[in-house]
Amino acid sequence: MHIVVCNMEFSFLDNNKIVPVVVIKNIEDTLPILNGLYDGGIKVAEITFRTSSAGEAIRLACNKMPNMIIGAGTVINREQCKKAIECGAKFIVSPGFSYGAYKVCVEREIPYIPGVATPTEVILAKELGLSVLKFFPASVYGGVNALKAISSVFPDIKFLPTGGIDENNMTEYLALPCVKAIGGSFMFREGIENIASISRKAVELAKQEG
Ligand code: 3PG
Repeated sequence: MHIVVCNMEFSFLDNNKIVPVVVIKNIEDTLPILNGLYDGGIKVAEITFRTSSAGEAIRLACNKMPNMIIGAGTVINREQCKKAIECGAKFIVSPGFSYGAYKVCVEREIPYIPGVATPTEVILAKELGLSVLKFFPASVYGGVNALKAISSVFPDIKFLPTGGIDENNMTEYLALPCVKAIGGSFMFREGIENIASISRKAVELAKQEG
């Protein structure tokens, strides 16, 4: 196994510390959800391939919300990855490592953020040239303490912890130098009408940390 150099640009996360994990069940909810995020100060979103609307929602979001950075999440194979990019996704997130998705992202120079939970998985991703990894599911795999321990041996890797993160613990993660941004779905728990206010509070918290 040799170390690959990937041409992937992750600077879009420098000023976007919260990556909402969006599940679109009804396509007509896409713009109200994204507008809520945008009004709350969140300019990036991961639309997940957990529903059949994902591709269409990504396309719609990219066309109608040009000021947001729209990516695809829960991408677990090559086909989904190709579709996501064809629909306009600017970055790809997986819950684990998909070699198919990785290869498509390398070819297209699209940032790929696979999920990892152990040092071995970090090493494999690192050997493939990846430098930003999703720590998932963060709370189940030991939360902040686990991330501190894992990151201590990988100083050049940045993480996007996701899973069990909300406004009550997000600053503990963001305080870690290894954390590039956090992911989560907490801003959706009180319905579309409350997305903006929950997002706004979270963005304020993130700013205090940064
Ligand atoms: C994900 O897919 O990244 C998680 O389902 C989001 O986790 P959360 O719902 O606990 O924030």
